[in-house]
Amino acid sequence: VSFHYQDAHLACDGVSLSEIGERVGTPFYVYSARTLRESYAAVDTAFGDYPHDIHYALKANSTIGLVRVLRSLGSHVDANSGGEIEVALRAGFIPPQIVFTGVGKTNDELERAVELGVKTINIESAGEAARIAGIAAAQGTRARVALRINPDIDPKSHPHISTGQKSAKFGVPIEHARALYRDMAACAGLEPVGVHVHLGSQMVDLEPVRRAVAIVTALAEDITRDGIPLEHLDAGGGLGVSYDGRAVPGPSDYAAAILPAVRSSGLRLLLEPGRAIVAAAGALVGRIVDLKQYEGGRRFVVLDTGMSELMRPALYDAFHRVVPVERRAGDEQITDVVGPICETSDTLAKGRPFPPAAVGDFVAVLDAGAYGSVMSSNYNRRMLPAEVLVDEGRWRVIRRRQSLEDVLALEE
Ligand SMILES: Cc1ncc(COP(=O)(O)O)c(C=O)c1O
Repeated sequence: VSFHYQDAHLACDGVSLSEIGERVGTPFYVYSARTLRESYAAVDTAFGDYPHDIHYALKANSTIGLVRVLRSLGSHVDANSGGEIEVALRAGFIPPQIVFTGVGKTNDELERAVELGVKTINIESAGEAARIAGIAAAQGTRARVALRINPDIDPKSHPHISTGQKSAKFGVPIEHARALYRDMAACAGLEPVGVHVHLGSQMVDLEPVRRAVAIVTALAEDITRDGIPLEHLDAGGGLGVSYDGRAVPGPSDYAAAILPAVRSSGLRLLLEPGRAIVAAAGALVGRIVDLKQYEGGRRFVVLDTGMSELMRPALYDAFHRVVPVERRAGDEQITDVVGPICETSDTLAKGRPFPPAAVGDFVAVLDAGAYGSVMSSNYNRRMLPAEVLVDEGRWRVIRRRQSLEDVLALEE
């Protein structure tokens, strides 16, 4: 693991987090290039020599300096908005390496994707298919498309990040899919090249994935029999990670759940992992600004970082390990580690053992690389944090801290 104590000092691949904190200020995100490489390799290796492409899901973290590391490893990308497509181009990806997914793509975004000739647009509905057909026809071209299938399977994850049941807004019900493929194939502007499914995120039970991939593979075989030869099956993302240290299935279990079904079809496999690649590679570091403890009451450690930088605890009740950067000797006490925002939900750790601490100490929130920075906001007029990449024993700022001038430049 990249974040580890050297004696009592927390470091990232040998680089002291206090040293970075003193230089860049707090809060900041810090990422380990080494963990990025290892996590990417673990997924890639798990799928062995079965033909596959990893389209890293930019929504998990799209800071360009980090995404460039993944590109250098051979990763492709999944973009979820026009903004993510432009970020991918800026990071050096070419359109055939980009798949474009998203439940509410605008005409402007679709025009740009069609004009660029992205590898595939994952279509969400018959209406979107018709819009893309019109846009492609107007540009005198054919758009490469796949349907996002809603297989009506519960991924057994948090309801806010479950996407593959009928009650969710995502995808086309599986029973409509075959007819829609026939309609699309008959359309001059559309070239159906694949099928797509994404069940949900932070999945630690892989049986739903196995079932979904089996169902979608059977659908792809039916579509091929209908005379529409497909190139690929895109199994989406969703592999979970362990936030609390308990064992969870890893990339090889994930491959074992997916490969048997897909293998029979011979279809090229696309994967869109986000969290499994970046979660463990990042930490959020803040500083203690206040300590509160009352007789018979709770102990609060108040940080200069919270839900404005890391929404996950407030949004999903998510668990993150929260640890001191310089560990002080002494007994641990049950503590709430909280942020500075005017919301009671701005609590990073509730009722946890935490060692002695003082105002000014650095504190790290671990496994914050995925869905951390990307969801940060200016709530309470706080500035977006700095981001740092540690690589080969050196560190550099890959995104500077936002300034008040940056924010106010947009206003009257
Ligand atoms: C279509 C799609 N692909 C990939 C992902 C990435 O998921 P994860 O970060 O859980 O791997 C998501 C996120 O929910 C998604 O909606």
